[in-house]
Order: sequence, then structure tokens, then C-alpha cells
Amino acid sequence: MTIKKISKIQPDFFEFSKENLLEVEKEIQKYPKTRKASATLALLYLVQKQNDNWIPIPAIAYVAKLLGVPYMQVYEVSTFYSMFNLSPVGKYFVQVCTTTPCMIRGSKKILNACKKHISENQHELSKNKLCSWTEVECLGACVNAPMMQINQDYFEDLDENKAEEIIKTLLEDKLPKPGSAKNRKNTAPEKERMTLLEIKNA
Ligand code: FES
Repeated sequence: MTIKKISKIQPDFFEFSKENLLEVEKEIQKYPKTRKASATLALLYLVQKQNDNWIPIPAIAYVAKLLGVPYMQVYEVSTFYSMFNLSPVGKYFVQVCTTTPCMIRGSKKILNACKKHISENQHELSKNKLCSWTEVECLGACVNAPMMQINQDYFEDLDENKAEEIIKTLLEDKLPKPGSAKNRKNTAPEKERMTLLEIKNA
């Protein structure tokens, strides 16, 4: 996303709700008075939770002030972790894994499906504002590669057609059934095959 676009979407102001201010107090109290900065991650997480799953720039300045640390220190943390979103995300947030096992098994085609149906660039909302997507590193489901995460759910064993079908369903404001597109149970073999037990002397 360009700097011009990023500055357009920023609110003028951010502050925590009363409820979250109580949470902030609890988090800060976990650390020595001279180590308030240790609560940075927890406070950024609270910002994201309160602000529709993304962290605006005024919130970074606000958190820095609350913790008594330089703005840049909080900015560095918020830009380091891919779990923090620095621009608005859709109701359906698609994260496509492109690390080696997923890449070998076709994640590029899944990225193309996102570009075609959601938005040309990652971190941008679809036309109907329901979806956005991003590329991420390994999500720990390599054995069912390629895969993508949508909100809290994993969609695995994908191919281009299945990915397109899922994305089209999201754009209709419906969440498809998560799991393996090949109906595998967790990481079990496909159909009735039994690992090792079918092989003599294995
Ligand atoms: S490489 Fe994609 S989940 Fe691990």
C-alpha cells in the first residue's frame, strides 16, 4: 500500500475503552516500574482487538505515551510481527502461506486467486470491503500444503479451483467449511489408506 493511501485511512485519534484501560493497568503491573516497555506486545494486541483487527498510527503514538517510551520503539515492534495489521482488514482476512512446502505445492496459484478476486495488492480491501489478503510465512500446517488461514480457521490441501471457490464464497459474506479440501482427517492419509500397516516388513 502506498504512503498516500496509508495516510488517507488513518483516524485522527485513538484511545482505549474504559474496559481496555483496566486491562492495560493489569498488563503494566506484571512488570517492574522501570520495565513498562515489556507490556508493548500486550497493549498492541489490545489495540488491534478494539480496532477491528488493525493498528492505526495514532494508536502507536498513544501506546508509546502510555508506556513512556519513544514512538519509534513501539513502531518497530508493530512493524516486526506479521500478526499486527497496520491497515484495515476485511471481515474475512485471508493469510496465504508461501513458505517452501506450500510454495512447492502451488501457493503462487492461490496468491493469484487472491489478486484476481480480492484485490490486486495485499493489505487492500476487496471492492465490497468484506475481504483482504496477505502473504505469510509458515503457519505450521506444511503436511497439508498448500494452505491458507481465514480468520481463525485453516483451509488445507488447496488447489487453484478450490481457493477460488472459497474466496468467491467469502465475497458473498459466507464462511465455507474449514479443513482439508480433500476431506482428509487432520493429517491422515487420503481415503482408506493406512500408513505403514499396508507395507509388509515396514
Ligand atoms: S510451509 Fe505452508 S504451512 Fe508450513
